[in-house]
Amino acid sequence: MKKKKAARSAEEAAPPPVRCVALTKRFGEHTVLDGVDLDCRERETNVIIGGSGAGKTTLLRLLIGLEKPTSGRVEIDGVDIAPLSERALNEVRHKFGMCFQYAALLDSLTIFDNVAFPLREHTSLSEKEIRAKVRDKLVALGLESRVEDLYPAEVSGGMRKRVGLARALMLDPKIIIYDEPTSGLDPITTHTVDEMIEQARRDFGVTNVVISHDMASTFRIAHRVHVLVRGKIVASGTPQEVLECGRDDVREFIEASGVDTANVHRIGKDSADAPAASQPHVELPTGEPPTGEPPTGEPPAEP
Ligand SMILES: Nc1ncnc2c1ncn2[C@@H]1O[C@H](COP(=O)(O)OP(=O)(O)OP(=O)(O)O)[C@@H](O)[C@H]1O
Ligand SMILES: [Mg+2]
Repeated sequence: MKKKKAARSAEEAAPPPVRCVALTKRFGEHTVLDGVDLDCRERETNVIIGGSGAGKTTLLRLLIGLEKPTSGRVEIDGVDIAPLSERALNEVRHKFGMCFQYAALLDSLTIFDNVAFPLREHTSLSEKEIRAKVRDKLVALGLESRVEDLYPAEVSGGMRKRVGLARALMLDPKIIIYDEPTSGLDPITTHTVDEMIEQARRDFGVTNVVISHDMASTFRIAHRVHVLVRGKIVASGTPQEVLECGRDDVREFIEASGVDTANVHRIGKDSADAPAASQPHVELPTGEPPTGEPPTGEPPAEP
C-alpha cells in the first residue's frame, strides 16, 4: 500500500515532458510571446490553439531550441534547454518527432524511402533491419504494403499525413509535435488525421503537442487545450474548462470557428459513441501544395 503511494507521488513529482515558464520572446520592439506558462502532460494530447499571428510557430521553434527565449525558459523533461550546447541540444531534439503542416515528404523518394530516411541518416542498421522496421510502422498505421513503392504524389492527403507520422515515429520519440496538422484538409480527411493523432498517443505512447488553429479538430483530440492570444496563454484546461472559462476573447474565437459547443466529444475510448468516431474512414485526395520543408523525421530549420 505504502509502496503504491510512493510510486504514485514519484510519478506526480516527475516533470512534464514539455514545460514553459514565464516564456517571453521579443523580436526588436515586438513582443511575440509574453510570459507563457505551459505544461504539456505526458501521453496526453496537448493542443496549443491560436489565431494567425498569435505566436504559435514562434512557440514551436522555442520548444525545439531553434530560437532562444528573451526571458523565461523551456524545460524538456525538467531540463532548461537554453544553456545547452548544440550537441546536447541535438540529443534533446531526438526526443521529438515532427509532423509538418504538409507532411513534407520528399517527392523524389518512394513512401518506403521517405519513412526509412531517419534510420538511414541516424542509425547504422542493416537494410534488412530497416526494411522490417519500416514495414512494422507502415502496417501499424494502416498503410498497406502496396503503398511502399508509390511516390508521395500518388497517395491521398490523409495517407501522406500517415506516412509523415510513420517517419516521425521511426526514431522512437517521446514527444510528437504537429504543426497545423489539419490545415488545408477537407473535413473527412481532417477526421482521419484526428484519429491518427489519437492513435499515435494510444499505440505508441507518445506525448502529443499539437499547434493548431482548428477548433473543431482541437475538441476532438485534446485532453488539454491552451489558448494563445497575442502571445499569452489566456485559458488552459480540459476542453470543457476552456469552454467555460468565461473570457470574451476565448468565447469569440470558439464562436467564430462554428463549433457546436453543446456537442463536444474527444475521440477515443471515453467517447465511443461520439459523432467523430462514427465518421467513415475515407481517404480523399487533396490538393496539398508542395512544400520546401526538409525530408527528415527531425525538427526543420525553418518550421
Ligand atoms: N524572426 C522573426 N523576426 C521578427 N518577427 C517575427 C519573427 N518570427 C515571427 N515574428 C513575428 O511574430 C508574430 C507571430 O508570428 P508566428 O509566426 O509565431 O505566428 P503564428 O501564430 O504561427 O501565425 P500563423 O497562424 O499565421 O502561422 C508575427 O507578427 C511575426 O511577424
Ligand atoms: Mg504559424
